[in-house]
Amino acid sequence: MGESVLTAGAVAAPGEPGFPYVDGVLHCDAVPAPAIAEAAGTPTYVYSAGVIRRQYRRLDAAFAGVPHRIHYSVKANSNLAVLRLLQAEGAGVDIVSGGELYRAREAGFAGGDVVFSGVGKLARELHEALAAGVRVVNVESEGELLLLDRVAGERGVVAPVALRVNPEVAVDNPHEYIRTGEKGHKFGIPFDDVARVAREARALPNLTLVGLDMHIGSQIASWEPYDAALARLVSLVVRVRADGARDLQYLDVGGGLAVSYDEEAPADVQRFAAGVIEATRGLDVTLILEPGRYLVAEAGILLTEVLFRKRSGGKEYVITDAGMNDLLRPSHYEAFHRIDAVRPSGEEVVADVVGPVCESGDFLALDRRTDDAAPGALLAVRTTGAYGFSMASNYNSRPRPAEVLVDGDRFAVVTERERYEDLVRQERASLEWRAG
Ligand code: LLP
Repeated sequence: MGESVLTAGAVAAPGEPGFPYVDGVLHCDAVPAPAIAEAAGTPTYVYSAGVIRRQYRRLDAAFAGVPHRIHYSVKANSNLAVLRLLQAEGAGVDIVSGGELYRAREAGFAGGDVVFSGVGKLARELHEALAAGVRVVNVESEGELLLLDRVAGERGVVAPVALRVNPEVAVDNPHEYIRTGEKGHKFGIPFDDVARVAREARALPNLTLVGLDMHIGSQIASWEPYDAALARLVSLVVRVRADGARDLQYLDVGGGLAVSYDEEAPADVQRFAAGVIEATRGLDVTLILEPGRYLVAEAGILLTEVLFRKRSGGKEYVITDAGMNDLLRPSHYEAFHRIDAVRPSGEEVVADVVGPVCESGDFLALDRRTDDAAPGALLAVRTTGAYGFSMASNYNSRPRPAEVLVDGDRFAVVTERERYEDLVRQERASLEWRAG
């Protein structure tokens, strides 16, 4: 079976990890999806450990010739079991909050395994990061630089800093919300300011400038913007070193590698790696990569049960027990996710696949040719291992789904489905008033 088929993640060759049909029933690796639904209920996210390992190893192998570190972007899927799995593969993490640092530590990552990104870090979070001994803090503004210097001074340490550069290139990907490297975006330090801010960083007593960083967006499948941004970043390394920076050792090229959600080609990691390696040849830096989606998206499906069918105004509806609170991507980014029946009926229908949430924006798919699934049938929403559960909410007071990890012929519940009591745990109905 061809490499591209495997990369698409939707189809697995015998013995390969993924989501094959065996005797007309969808499996995750060697476990039948109905057995998971039986054990964990629906909606439930199901992840293939084998696919996550395969993706990690592919990326790692592509960069084998040069010094590099892969820091998994925790926001894509923050489950502790997923983090632990990647840690066992040798990954570090890219975090954007104290909460993600907490998760990373719980999963067993050491401080040196962590890079800390994010446009609005809190003093408290910077304290926590320095206490943990993170490898590098990716700073996004002069204000943050000054705050970090102060926090480091209070702790009596020197903080390792990289400047996140906004390379100000046009980014070509499916939605404007996931572009982060264009002129005027809130992210990073404007390109023309970086050399000056780098001098400022070097002049501050409690900081060492150890790197430059960029992340231009997500689900990027064409290399022109990436190559252009990288060339600009490399020009800054040269410039900042010419200004006297001696400790610059990291070049963080961000995440953003695209996966295949439908028929489109996924990002070609070989091409990606070749481009990065070529652009940074002779620079004498360790590359840092921050992939999220690439490592986990294709490893996941969302299992959901059809509750009802109905027709309205000439339109056909498939109503599922998973809604926008469980998987936000279709309504928030107009994202496409394939939806397949766990036991295909052989009949098809064109329908809107919608959830129970009280909004017309609550859909998993619109005008989709899909299985003519009857109430009680199971569906699999594909390629939902990234930004699925991690963006789930309790809207409509819906408990968040369960998560299950499959490894070969075994599976484990790695997140219990929330209960009603969890929904109100932090709330108080009998009030303790305080004088205002
Ligand atoms: N590094 C930084 C600084 C980031 O902000 C992100 C993602 C990544 C790395 C990882 O990017 P990836 O490799 O996953 O493309 N919720 C959206 C995606 C938002 C991405 C946010 N930043 C979605 O569902 O499409």
